[in-house]
Amino acid sequence: MLRVVVMVSGNGSNLQALIDNVHRNPKVDAEIVLVVCSKDGARALERAEDAGIPTSVVALDDPARREVRDARLNGVISRMEPDLIVMAGWMSIVTGVFLNRFPDMVINLHPSLLPSFPGLRAIEQALEWGVRLTGVTVHIAEEAVDGGPPVLQEPVPVRGDDTVDTLSARVHDAEHRVLTRAVVLYSEGRVRRDPADPRHMIINDEGGS
Ligand code: GAR
Repeated sequence: MLRVVVMVSGNGSNLQALIDNVHRNPKVDAEIVLVVCSKDGARALERAEDAGIPTSVVALDDPARREVRDARLNGVISRMEPDLIVMAGWMSIVTGVFLNRFPDMVINLHPSLLPSFPGLRAIEQALEWGVRLTGVTVHIAEEAVDGGPPVLQEPVPVRGDDTVDTLSARVHDAEHRVLTRAVVLYSEGRVRRDPADPRHMIINDEGGS
């Protein structure tokens, strides 16, 4: 059973997709063992509690001392002995103190086809640029923000009359699919670094579930 920790900051619709499609799906050999939230009172915490999943709030009390927060994250998360840590709308930059403790175990979800539009306001940026195609990316989290190698991506076409709301809705639908698929692939042992080219991931997405 793949032990998954999910990190969130806000609404948690992607957490909900993982609860419905992974945690509660007897065909998927994975369970969410902990939800860590950066903000007290976030809707994502209610979603976890409704599903009977333990929660922990680890806030950034002092932005000048991010490493202190990350050491707390390490303590809270390592106790759960996770196999995979999923940043699903975690909106706070983490340092090497955290990422080096869990090498190749942290994946991040981002609402664009990286390397386009890293950082904040990815959907607004896509509209401002007038791109015809945006999308979503699940990638290995590294210290460079939104910088690690992609695991899965899905394109989302942009329509001429799209607003932030209409495009966000379709991007979110794609995120729910892609994030679920990524966790399923991990649960089946189908994701690994390319030993010949460590900047790339090898995904065995054929057959299976
Ligand atoms: C998602 O769109 C996710 O890609 C984004 O936050 C949203 C969370 O939605 N994350 C980032 O932008 C990280 N750079 P949710 O709380 O409804 O799952």
